[in-house]
Amino acid sequence: MDSIRIRGGNRLVGSIPIAGAKNAALPLMAAALLADGPLTLSNLPNLADIASMRDLLAQHGVVFTDTGSGSTGSTVRMATPEITSTTAPYDLVRKMRASVLVLGPLLARCGVAKVSQPGGCAIGNRPVDLHLKGLQELGAEVDLTGGYIEARTRSGDRLTGGRVVFPVISVGATENLMMAATLARGETALVNAAREPEIVDLAECLIAMGAKIEGHGGDTIHIQGVDALESAEHAVVADRIETGTYAIAAAITGGELELVGAKAIHLEAALDVLRSTGTTVEEHDAGLTVRAPDGRLRGVDVMTEPFPGFPTDLQAQFMALMSVAEGAAMITETIFENRFMHVPELSRMGANITVHHASALLRGVPELTGAPVMATDLRASVSLVLAGLAASGETLVNRVYHLDRGYDRLVGKLSACGAVIERISSETDVQEQVA
Ligand code: EPZ
Repeated sequence: MDSIRIRGGNRLVGSIPIAGAKNAALPLMAAALLADGPLTLSNLPNLADIASMRDLLAQHGVVFTDTGSGSTGSTVRMATPEITSTTAPYDLVRKMRASVLVLGPLLARCGVAKVSQPGGCAIGNRPVDLHLKGLQELGAEVDLTGGYIEARTRSGDRLTGGRVVFPVISVGATENLMMAATLARGETALVNAAREPEIVDLAECLIAMGAKIEGHGGDTIHIQGVDALESAEHAVVADRIETGTYAIAAAITGGELELVGAKAIHLEAALDVLRSTGTTVEEHDAGLTVRAPDGRLRGVDVMTEPFPGFPTDLQAQFMALMSVAEGAAMITETIFENRFMHVPELSRMGANITVHHASALLRGVPELTGAPVMATDLRASVSLVLAGLAASGETLVNRVYHLDRGYDRLVGKLSACGAVIERISSETDVQEQVA
């Protein structure tokens, strides 16, 4: 398994291009199943999860043509003249939970779908009950047999529009239902829908394909079903979590980074919190410039919330930052039940963290000390890299295949700004991991 070795202490100064968002690209790719004509996506990030989704969609019958690549992503044309399989098999789904996003499109296009139940993952049980309940509201019959979700429309007809009220805000369930509803008969209302920028990006792509959607970005989305969707072209929105990650890299190393292509509007809560630590964040036409304070960072309390609140996907990174802030910081995780696995690893580097249930109390220390640490999930991995950049001495982050799922060219981007960081390949095969 590969590792990343970091010698900490350097200020990061320079410019980093922000890639297309992983969490927008995955549902956008699944949307290709809804139309037989080509969907061309640009600014597609070069990530392991994108490759996994590509493998899954290809076995459903999506034909991929690579038509170009740039500094923030590639352009891919996806045509689905015929769905060759309506089954998403276990060996592909287990690699990446977001595979469940093919369920709604397959059901809408073919009236039938068999998708392996995505297991839990390191950060939580991550059920899909809201996805299934919502599809049943649209007329689907759903059975769980042998580890698979088997869904079909009644009498093989189309889905029928309905009113879906989510008891819990769910990004994935909102995406699955929004895609399914585009081809349903009649109108669908998604109430208490997720409002993330990735939801808005997906809705705009579906509208470009001929879908009739209103209210996206708000808490109720209305979809008027149409008979078919057509070809379209769409650019994947910039990755707000990558943006927040590198903004924290500037702050934790006492540096100054320009984040090219970043959209401040997509992470206002996180940027406001960052400003409260004493970090300067300036918006300009090219993106954002983030500058660390001259003195020590200030400790700031944070609670993760659905968008537009502070994103759970930046919680681990922010904890690394607060571990070296002056004073205390309380970080509360309200979205996932087990998203503090970076805590013991940060503690090995000298962080002073006390966890009580869903809250972690940090008492900032003047400096972290490099150590060998273990990555456990995507965002925990990158928080250890951030800590290593600030720590004295050498940090070795193991199991970095987690990072490859969500960060395109992380080592290259950081070393170009002055980080002493390298990837060490090892012989032992990477065990395929449950995503
Ligand atoms: C998406 O996951 C993201 N992944 C996650 O990013 C992100 O952390 C999460 O949204 C929250 O913003 C992708 O977009 C591919 P949810 P998703 O459904 O859709 C519960 C990363 O690091 N829930 O919004 O799976 C669930 O257990 C990843 O990039 C149900 O109870 O998240 C959780 O507590 C990690 N039943 C809460 O809702 C359901 O049917 C939010 O989950 C679905 C979800």
